[in-house]
Amino acid sequence: MDHARVPERDDLAIRTAASAAFHERARRSAPLGVIGGGRYWRPYPLAIARAEGARLWDIDGNEYIDYHASFGPSVLGQNHPEVREAVIEAMSRGVLFALPHEAEIALCERVIECVPSAEKVILTCAGTEATYHAVRVARAFTGRERIVKFEGHYHGWHDAVQQSLKPTMDVAGPPEAPHTVPVSAGTPAAVTALTTVLRWNDAAALEAYLAQAGDEVACVVLEPISHACGVLLPQPGFLARVRELCDRHGVVLIFDEMITGFRHALGGCQELYGVTPDLTTFGKAVANGFPVSGLAGRADIMGLMEPEGPVSYSGTFNGELVCVAAALKTLEILEREPVHERLFAVGDRLAAEINAEAGRLGLPAQCINFGSMWCVYFTDREIVDYRDIAAFAVSKDTGIDAEFQGHMLGNGIYMQPFYANRCFTSYAHTDADIDRTIEVVGEFLRTRGADIHRAYEEAYG
Ligand SMILES: Cc1ncc(COP(=O)(O)O)c(C=O)c1O
Repeated sequence: MDHARVPERDDLAIRTAASAAFHERARRSAPLGVIGGGRYWRPYPLAIARAEGARLWDIDGNEYIDYHASFGPSVLGQNHPEVREAVIEAMSRGVLFALPHEAEIALCERVIECVPSAEKVILTCAGTEATYHAVRVARAFTGRERIVKFEGHYHGWHDAVQQSLKPTMDVAGPPEAPHTVPVSAGTPAAVTALTTVLRWNDAAALEAYLAQAGDEVACVVLEPISHACGVLLPQPGFLARVRELCDRHGVVLIFDEMITGFRHALGGCQELYGVTPDLTTFGKAVANGFPVSGLAGRADIMGLMEPEGPVSYSGTFNGELVCVAAALKTLEILEREPVHERLFAVGDRLAAEINAEAGRLGLPAQCINFGSMWCVYFTDREIVDYRDIAAFAVSKDTGIDAEFQGHMLGNGIYMQPFYANRCFTSYAHTDADIDRTIEVVGEFLRTRGADIHRAYEEAYG
């Protein structure tokens, strides 16, 4: 981060002295003071004291409008009172039986009612567990080992899928045939070799690849809208074409709806796009902040899961009472209230007003949204795949995106520093919050036009 060019962050440093001091303490006991790579940013992350509705407060007492949403779960708003009450009520009966109980099956039943592909369901805690089980059961079902994923998409941190998340161009290979680039040191080469990475929205590449190697491929796994890339939409007909190609080659199609599920619609993107995968992973918004995730899908595939079938499935905390109660209450509210209608109206207004201002100013900038998810890209070029984003945004600590994020933070708007300017709106955001956000984004566009043009020139030469 170039502090000289980010006065807001200098000012912020004065206002966040307690976070700075806390970071000194934290780094003695945890790697760089945080408990996950995505939580760190330079020079130090803000330590949070409290979250309520659409607000976060740091330990210095600064208040922020929250667009981080805890990496996505906060769809109703932080610490929703009805969800909290449901959790407290559940705790009067216990916390963890690790034995069958009514509420966990009620949750499986609700998922089946909501999600088109869901005939049977398993529950897990983290999303990574759900995508792990999805890949393994697909391998067992097909008797094949290879998997296909798309460049830029995120499916959690296990080796098979944590490939080519945000590869830099020196290692990424040609766009029409990307290399598979492991994200983490310590990933066995043999595992990387089983994952083929393709370009998003490139149906011809998938068709050609499956024509040649389809009988080795167990599954295609994808985010139906890639929110790892901000808001990277499927082009019209793309998801249906992927479905057709998977059917042609007997490949299991997995929609990873960890972010899109329940946030964009009760039935997720599969409901909105009318394309039904074989397996669906879900989590995050399903429980508005409590750690529940799961895998749902065709009964014949899910029937391979233990104890019905030979695919191992266990977990001490699966179906834990508190989280299941939170999920049941969240689903009740999502169905009862016009949450999705509101999230789409708000997101569309945000994007329209930001785009109007960028247009008035003649800037190479655009806001793309899908419902509550919105992302400002500092380019006016069409964004179709990961490379269109990587052209100008890969490091979360440098460049125009970092300056934008610093400006937002300095003006009381929290977006997690990330390689795309990804924001999540919740049902708790008021019209006044949205007005303020549009004003602060507009201020950046109005005052930093020269920097935005320069960044664009640097990116495209
Ligand atoms: C699309 C997607 N899949 C899987 C995961 C992994 O979920 P978790 O972080 O709960 O392991 C995430 C997390 O951000 C995600 O966005």
